Amino acid sequence: MVGRENPYPRYARLREISPIVRADDGALVVTGYDECTTVVRDGRFVHPPAEMLAFLGFADWEDHPALRQMFTTMLLLNPPDHTRLRRLVSSAFTPRRVQTLRPVIETLVDDLLDAMSGDVDFVESFAFPLPVEVIGELLGVPEADRAQFRTLVRDWTQVLEVITPAVLARADPAAAMIRDYLAELLDERRRFPADDLLSALAQAQTTDERLTDDEILANAALLFAAGFETTTGLLANGLVALLDHPEQAAALAAQPELAPSGVEELLRFDSPVHLSSRVTAEPVELAGLTVGAGERVVAYLGAGNHDPARFADPDQLRLDRADNAPLSFGGGIHYCLGAPLARLEAQIAFPALLRRFPELSRSGRAEHRDSLSIKGFLSLPVRTG
Ligand code: HEM
Repeated sequence: MVGRENPYPRYARLREISPIVRADDGALVVTGYDECTTVVRDGRFVHPPAEMLAFLGFADWEDHPALRQMFTTMLLLNPPDHTRLRRLVSSAFTPRRVQTLRPVIETLVDDLLDAMSGDVDFVESFAFPLPVEVIGELLGVPEADRAQFRTLVRDWTQVLEVITPAVLARADPAAAMIRDYLAELLDERRRFPADDLLSALAQAQTTDERLTDDEILANAALLFAAGFETTTGLLANGLVALLDHPEQAAALAAQPELAPSGVEELLRFDSPVHLSSRVTAEPVELAGLTVGAGERVVAYLGAGNHDPARFADPDQLRLDRADNAPLSFGGGIHYCLGAPLARLEAQIAFPALLRRFPELSRSGRAEHRDSLSIKGFLSLPVRTG
């Protein structure tokens, strides 16, 4: 667990051996910034196509709702399916479209801060509700139904980390419940369209008959899950980094214009997403090593973000760091679709939080997520003043 709270010394030791090493399970672990960039950007690193999944030990993947649903999302598909599905929703997430949400996010932030007083759990009272309300609003999930998704999404997305019978026993019913819920909502939006993304997806299906219900539901579930799971991590990890560096927090409170570069640095310093996996479609040279076709390669984004060859003093937090290009949103064709939204939420949230509660401090023991790929907190007790 300690390694998961602070994996950076271990990443550094691995990177010193080599930016690419073979793990006990046969996968290649990549910890250098340049090498991670290649893995996420170079089209020869792909997601395992359906016929290869059986090979990798998922022979019965289609019998498991959690796997069937995950392997139908754009996150795990290759072109041309990836291109077709991503194109459907990409216009909703351009920086310009996302900026129109600024007033909604500002009001939400103020309301959440108004309700915080004394000893509170920061995850429960802010880091979870802010992104879930925003993505719920965008997608069209009614307010009263949003909170139940916190544990359902956590159980479903566990399959992105490890797939064991115990994980599937929780992930399968969670995936089925998410699907059933969204199927009912989609049905309603077909009859009564609203100004939301789910209605737009239902509409897209009437003009593109290749789009199946399974695809709409899996990708709506992905957007909802990705919309809060990771941003919750950014808000909580970022707050901890700021509280550990009071002089940097004070600078951000005094100069909110530091927010854009500050959020990039918080993303780099303690990224909510640490792993991105691929397989090689053909032999590739990586850091002087010839990687054969069909090898599993895992880019350790959190390690690349602390590579001293790319970032001067990588273990120091500098909110005004210049030429910062963290790997936290991945890269290439799978570059995070929600990056402009996550950035905007965090750029509004941190200065507002620090200004409202200049005495904010940690109180009590925080609970870390027991996950290698998503780094964050289950609870984070704080005192507002
Ligand atoms: C701080 C918050 C976030 C972080 C760190 C993050 C990180 C990532 C990363 C690393 C990937 C690429 C995964 C890979 O290539 O293996 C990704 C993809 C994705 N993210 Fe995010 N994300 C965040 C917020 C969001 C939000 C708010 C949304 C939704 C609205 C979102 C939606 C997506 C989607 C749909 C993909 C898949 C894109 C594709 O495969 O083409 N993310 N994200």
